Order: sequence, then C-alpha cells, then structure tokens
Amino acid sequence: MIHLKEVHSLTDEHWKLLLLADPSKKMVDEYIHKSNIYESVIENLVVGVMVLVENSNHETEIKNIAVDPSFQGKGIGKSLIQLGIRESKKLGYSKISICTGNSSIYQIALYQKCGFQLTTIFHDFFIHHYEEEIWENGLQCKDLMKLELNI
Ligand code: COA
Repeated sequence: MIHLKEVHSLTDEHWKLLLLADPSKKMVDEYIHKSNIYESVIENLVVGVMVLVENSNHETEIKNIAVDPSFQGKGIGKSLIQLGIRESKKLGYSKISICTGNSSIYQIALYQKCGFQLTTIFHDFFIHHYEEEIWENGLQCKDLMKLELNI
C-alpha cells in the first residue's frame, strides 16, 4: 500500500532522494525552505519525494522529484506528479511546470505522458550553473528544458 503525504521536516532518507534528482545540494538549498514537500511511503519506507514551489501567483513548479532506484518503474513517479498537479489545482494555480536536462530522455518522455508540453530551452544552463560535467544516456547534459501544463 502506497501513502502519499505532505512532510514538514526532512530526514536523511529525503535528502538521499533529493540529491538523486539534483546532484547540487547548493541548488536544492536555494528552494527547499520555500517549498511544499511530499513523500511516497511503502511500509514505513520513504520511496519517493516531490517538491513543489510557487513560481508566480498563477504557476507552481515541480522543483525536484525522485524515486528510490529499487522502486522505480512501478508508477510511483507518475503518482507523485499527479499529486503535484492535484495540489497545485487545489491551491488555485492555473499552470504547473517542470524542468529537466536535455540528456534526461526518460524523464522528458514521462513528463509528456503526464500531459506536460515542452515550452522553453535554456541553452547551456548546466554548463554555467554546475561545477561538474553531467553525462547521462551517453549525452552531456547542457540545456535546461522547461515543460508546462495548464491546469
Ligand atoms: N524507460 C522508458 N519508460 C519508462 C521506464 C524506462 N526505463 N521506466 C518506466 N517508464 C514509463 C512507465 O512505463 C510509465 O509509463 P506508462 O504509465 O505509460 O506505463 C512512466 O514511465 C512512469 O513511470 P514511473 O514508474 O511512474 O516512474 P518512476 O517511479 O520510475 O519515477 C523518476 C520516475 C524520474 C522520478 C525516477 O526514475 C527517478 O527518481 N529518477 C532519478 C531522479 C530523477 O532523474 N529525477 C528527475 C530529475 S529532472
């Protein structure tokens, strides 16, 4: 049985997951204090986390989403995204966005499956904002891709 709920303090388990999605703790520290944080729990084990931030009066953004590798591919990520959409709607926002890197091929597919549409590319974002090179699926992660969904 999976439980999805909001959390108000972070444990080491949450941090391990947050850093899976964003390897820079410095970047996570910049938004985490002004976020709504949700977790997915199976039998007292935190298996997923999702972080929602207000971008403007009408838009939220899923800033971070991660599922424990041994629980990936079972629909937990999708259910956390759907929760983010429901929560944003409930709080009165009309748009939700999510960003990822050009090399995150699987994530780009997943977000589109959840209804998001690619709107903006920030070229070379990861080169300018991250100290270490990031490589995934044989591709260097250079560009930040923004996907949006009207809700
Ligand atoms: N390749 C292609 N599609 C896949 C897949 C794979 N390896 N694994 C799952 N999918 C599909 C599923 O079939 C499902 O589609 P469907 O509903 O049409 O069947 C969809 O993707 C959702 O999968 P789901 O099981 O909900 O995803 P997940 O629980 O593995 O969570 C992530 C997705 C991205 C959160 C998870 O993989 C993760 O934590 N990755 C590391 C951190 C990360 O990259 N975060 C995002 C940073 S932008």
